[in-house]
Amino acid sequence: MTTALSLREVRKDFGPAKIIQGVSLEIAQGERHAIIGPNGAGKSTLFNLISGLYRPTAGDIRLRGQSIAGIRPYRINRMGLSRSFQVSNIFSNMSVRENVRCGVLWSMGQGYSFWRNIGNLKLVQEKTAHILDSVGLIDKADSPAALLPYADQRTLEIAITIAGGADVILLDEPTAGMSHSETDRAIALIQKATAGKTLLIVEHDMGVVFGLSDRISVLVYGEIIATGAPEEIRGDPRVKEAYLGDEAELPEAVA
Ligand SMILES: Nc1ncnc2c1ncn2[C@@H]1O[C@H](COP(=O)(O)OP(=O)(O)O)[C@@H](O)[C@H]1O
Ligand SMILES: [Mg+2]
Repeated sequence: MTTALSLREVRKDFGPAKIIQGVSLEIAQGERHAIIGPNGAGKSTLFNLISGLYRPTAGDIRLRGQSIAGIRPYRINRMGLSRSFQVSNIFSNMSVRENVRCGVLWSMGQGYSFWRNIGNLKLVQEKTAHILDSVGLIDKADSPAALLPYADQRTLEIAITIAGGADVILLDEPTAGMSHSETDRAIALIQKATAGKTLLIVEHDMGVVFGLSDRISVLVYGEIIATGAPEEIRGDPRVKEAYLGDEAELPEAVA
């Protein structure tokens, strides 16, 4: 097994608040891994640590064996790790196509020699069109991103995340606010777009989590209380207990 991402005893304090309290996790190359847990457990903070937005208070994070703890987000991105945000992060004044093109350029466009080569520009157009087509947004490519319906904006966010060609993808609640059918469509897209890649996903829809994941980790108060295959998590008494008292979040598949 090749490890894509590994966290060792990662901690993050905000002042006196200990938000991530010693998280260790190994994610294999090509694995689909979901992080679940109640609101405020630290899931987004964990993504912020992995993607370089925050520096860990302690512990180490490795991407393909190389330490990335404390490295700047754009450098981690260049190393092949890309993340989406819980709140959309698109450029609303640009068209759908321009948004995706930005992601493509970001991964390809380095230096003056790149711009002098007309073949590269053609490749950028082709890659952009291919991504727009594969996420079903080609017909809306020239609309301003701000005018897209909400679910399409979330889809665009996913498209931009994968546009850079990263092979480790982090998605933070990609289906938040979507209807049931929009969620189904988004998940099908995520499956297709991340085929063969390593996927770390924070997701609240337990049907999605249990259907999509190779393994699931349960984060509660900044600690992983269980990691395992869906069937192991389903039957884990600690997981059931962690969700008890929070009826609104009690996932059907775990109950
Ligand atoms: N930059 C920050 N400064 C202080 N506290 C923060 C910061 N970011 C997150 N937190 C706190 O960390 C906890 C976990 O938040 P978050 O990671 O967003 O949880 P989740 O994504 O699991 O809902 C919350 O109590 C939140 O208020
Ligand atoms: Mg969150």
